[in-house]
Amino acid sequence: MTRFTRIGFILAAAGSAVGLGNIWKFPYVTGEYGGGAFVIVYLLAILFIGLTVFIAETVIGQNGQADVSTSFVNLSKSKNKNWKFAGFMVFTGLIILSFYSVVLGWILNYVFTSFVSLPTEAKVAGANFEKLISNDIGSLILYHTLIAGSVIYIVLKGIKEGIEKINLILMPLLGLILFGLLLYALTLDSFSQAISFMFSPDWSKINGDALLAALGQAFFTLSLGVGTILTYSASLSKKTNFIKTSISVAVVDTSIAIIAGLIIFSFLFEAGAPSAAGPGLVFISLPVIFSGWGLLGQVIAVSFFVALIFAGITSAVSMIEPSLRFFIERFNITRSKATLISGSTFYLLGIVALLSMSKSYGAELTFFGKNAFDLMDFMTSSIMMPLAAILTCIFLGYFVEKQKLQDAFTQHVPLAVFNFWYFLIKFIVPIAIIILLLNKLGVIQ
Ligand code: PHE
Ligand code: NA
Repeated sequence: MTRFTRIGFILAAAGSAVGLGNIWKFPYVTGEYGGGAFVIVYLLAILFIGLTVFIAETVIGQNGQADVSTSFVNLSKSKNKNWKFAGFMVFTGLIILSFYSVVLGWILNYVFTSFVSLPTEAKVAGANFEKLISNDIGSLILYHTLIAGSVIYIVLKGIKEGIEKINLILMPLLGLILFGLLLYALTLDSFSQAISFMFSPDWSKINGDALLAALGQAFFTLSLGVGTILTYSASLSKKTNFIKTSISVAVVDTSIAIIAGLIIFSFLFEAGAPSAAGPGLVFISLPVIFSGWGLLGQVIAVSFFVALIFAGITSAVSMIEPSLRFFIERFNITRSKATLISGSTFYLLGIVALLSMSKSYGAELTFFGKNAFDLMDFMTSSIMMPLAAILTCIFLGYFVEKQKLQDAFTQHVPLAVFNFWYFLIKFIVPIAIIILLLNKLGVIQ
């Protein structure tokens, strides 16, 4: 197995973390929960829970030096073979990837249509979006195929030539586009309004739902619970300071979410549009605002959607990688064969997801009242990811020799840091996630 360089790892892990979760989801969830107070809760969730689990996955990967299953077994007390079942999480990534690729397909469609023209009215923009996702099967399949093909092409080349390289190219470009958009947002009068929306807390907006949404978002945004960070860390030299690298990735991910929020809210407020427009915010509200800015608006629209594609592609490749390494090491097959298996699985599931939203093909087909797309989203982000995170905490807290973990930490940080992390992993984080899980399952409200 080839290894990441230290900087290659940070870029790849940041590339995984920074995705649609930052630029699409974070702003609309923040909008729905009313801004400032939600942002503060989210920051606390990243700091105490997200970062703790991020470090946990890094420790397992870096010391296990193998696929998810083997790393768990390798690190467990007396190498208990049963821990191989933790490998279930590599399939979570594949399921997420199937609908993530469909959404990236929508965005790719927006890159092209924004070139041609932008809708001038919210009604038209809404109808366009609705038509794309529920009627235009041909385009949806075409764009999903283009995205899936690129992801497969990149991962076929491996960790160094594929993943490290694509991140080396796309991450700086993403940074550049966001920087440009931020500069433009800074020139708008509404920028200060965006700042106060995002940073002055109104605590009356915070309820249990908001807390859990912040926690769920913290996991998703840091790519936790699918074996991605663990698998990337397995290609990291054992000498690298994993605490420092984890903090760098969390800082990059959080900064990009905040910057994306500032950009998008400045744009919305400039046009007097509502901040709580939900998932359609980026697909319906923004294009109309851009259209009001003439040619410059069109340039901004194309750049914005290209930025989303760049952010999303580097996340997409990180969702498939855990399953590749799992198949390669557990079944002793080549990378190409593993890619064929994982690639066709997520590609076909993606087709199911996109058909499930179409009026003429699959919309009536529901399971537990959800179409396939929503079901995949629910199963992964509400059940499988939290389960994997709980398993990770319980594993490290109770089934790995404490001394081993302590030694890994104290190579780089004072003992007190280890003790604090260990306390969070053993008690606080699992309890927080169990509450999240029970709530998602409807057991507690
Ligand atoms: N962190 C990514 C985002 O914010 C999503 C992701 C989840 C990537 C799980 C990899 C694994 O969009
Ligand atoms: Na993210």
